[in-house]
Amino acid sequence: RVYVLAFEVGVDRLAAARIGLGGVILDRREIVRERGPFDMGQVVGTLAGFARQMRRRTRDDTVCVGAAAAFCGAVRKSDGLVRSGPNIGAEEVPLAEELSRRLQLGLPVSVGNDANLGALAEHTRGVGMDCRDLVYLHGDVGIGGGVIVNGQLLGGHGGYGGEVGHMIVNPDGRPCGCGSRGCLEAEVGERALMEHAGRYGEGRGRDGVRDVVDAADRGDVVAQGALQRVGGWLGLGVANLVNIFNPEMVIFGGMLREIYLGSAAQVRSRIATGTLAATREHVRLRTSTLGDDATLMGAAEMAFARVLADPLEA
Ligand code: BGC
Ligand code: NA
Ligand code: ZN
Repeated sequence: RVYVLAFEVGVDRLAAARIGLGGVILDRREIVRERGPFDMGQVVGTLAGFARQMRRRTRDDTVCVGAAAAFCGAVRKSDGLVRSGPNIGAEEVPLAEELSRRLQLGLPVSVGNDANLGALAEHTRGVGMDCRDLVYLHGDVGIGGGVIVNGQLLGGHGGYGGEVGHMIVNPDGRPCGCGSRGCLEAEVGERALMEHAGRYGEGRGRDGVRDVVDAADRGDVVAQGALQRVGGWLGLGVANLVNIFNPEMVIFGGMLREIYLGSAAQVRSRIATGTLAATREHVRLRTSTLGDDATLMGAAEMAFARVLADPLEA
């Protein structure tokens, strides 16, 4: 019996899972991450602790064949170096190297972008299973994207492909953590939504977003207005993506699932007016079926893929 260790470093949570063949989650651990400066030693220490706990509980005939982590920022493909994580305060952090050192598995640990890995997971085992061309949008605190073209993840030259959260939709818009202005993430992310709803600082991350969507459902006009506003920007971003990639499916994952469900009318109307008839013809809008597990499952896919590519290393 073989399994891999999958990790997630999100803005608000650190998670780990032991995942078997076929994407079966055998065990998992999760902890809330306090916002504040990025402390690599602490993050890696927490994940290594999770790994130790989970491995202690495995039977003797099970073997760990790989490990990978999903990170909420741009990750260099060649060596798993984190180049940036605008919402987690990380820059030039050798995450893969440090995880490999601390986990002491005798195996290298891969690191990938959270949304790219989420796309991989939804494509392999989720709602996008039968699609060869899809765009997965992932809302953590920031917004990420993963693009699957002809069944392959679009990595780009360095592995940074799919940074759709920093697509500029509003040139004079809100400042973004990346240093630019009016990025999709700045207009649609958690902070924008909470501010428009007059609730900034109240609830955090997914809980805060859920509160706004619930309030809108109950008829709160301020919450409804906030959702409509971000929904318009979200629709604009999706319309651009539909025109560029001509996907069969656009998948809303992480907390974008909630935001999309609360603003689907705005998103649809932007797509109706902002895309070519030819590109919007076949596109289906769907919410993620793997939910909060998409990124961990994607990390597991990445770890298994590495074993298959290079079995002697494992
Ligand atoms: C980062 C992306 C990440 C996304 C979601 C963005 O701010 O630039 O790399 O995928 O947040 O976590
Ligand atoms: Na991405
Ligand atoms: Zn940005």
